[in-house]
Amino acid sequence: MIRAVIRRFADRLAETPAAFHWLRKLPEGNYRETKRRIAAVRDDLGAPRVLDLGCGAGEYAELFDPALYLGMDIDPGYIAFARSRHPKHRFACADVTTWSGEENGFDLVLVNGVLHHLGDAEASAFLCNAHRLTRPGGTLLVIEDVRLDPPTFAARVVHFLDYGDHIRTLPRWQALVSAITPIARSETYVSGICPYHLMLCSKPVR
Ligand SMILES: C[S@@+](CC[C@H](N)C(=O)[O-])C[C@H]1O[C@@H](n2cnc3c(N)ncnc32)[C@H](O)[C@@H]1O
Repeated sequence: MIRAVIRRFADRLAETPAAFHWLRKLPEGNYRETKRRIAAVRDDLGAPRVLDLGCGAGEYAELFDPALYLGMDIDPGYIAFARSRHPKHRFACADVTTWSGEENGFDLVLVNGVLHHLGDAEASAFLCNAHRLTRPGGTLLVIEDVRLDPPTFAARVVHFLDYGDHIRTLPRWQALVSAITPIARSETYVSGICPYHLMLCSKPVR
């Protein structure tokens, strides 16, 4: 009962991009640890053409050259909010599972905090398209909330409030991603009080 009320409150918040965005910054430690890792991948790639799938409020756009960045989200409210925050960057509204964008078109495809909202079939379809859009030799970077075993108390609270119903364990994340593309590097870390798992996949050059 209490859980249902709290979840309904969290769902409501998620419908309001600005409120949800600013509220999330606190438990996430202002995304500092995640941004540091994404910036390191960017630097390894030089000046990559970036596709940020399920970009939400466009929190990571600032890490990239506006001319080389495209953020995409299914939610028009989030896209409008992202555009207002980053007027020089490009954003588009589409369902990533079916978007027919340019095959092999991007050096870096970022999937951050999206798949834990999706069941296995939809998450696999999302990843398949993300992989298709990555150029051979390019990088698919997946970062998701992870269920630790045993969970810390803080992670329990954060995951209880999270409106994503598919926060997976480490083996389940690795199975989901490696069924589509080999994982070159895998790392669990904490940003603020939120545990994450990062999977870096290099698309083979054929
Ligand atoms: C928790 S937010 C993460 C936003 C952003 N990546 C970040 O880390 O700040 C998840 C986002 O994925 C988007 N999303 C979920 N399913 C999607 C789909 N099929 N196509 C495009 N976006 C989707 C949601 O609208 C939401 O904005």
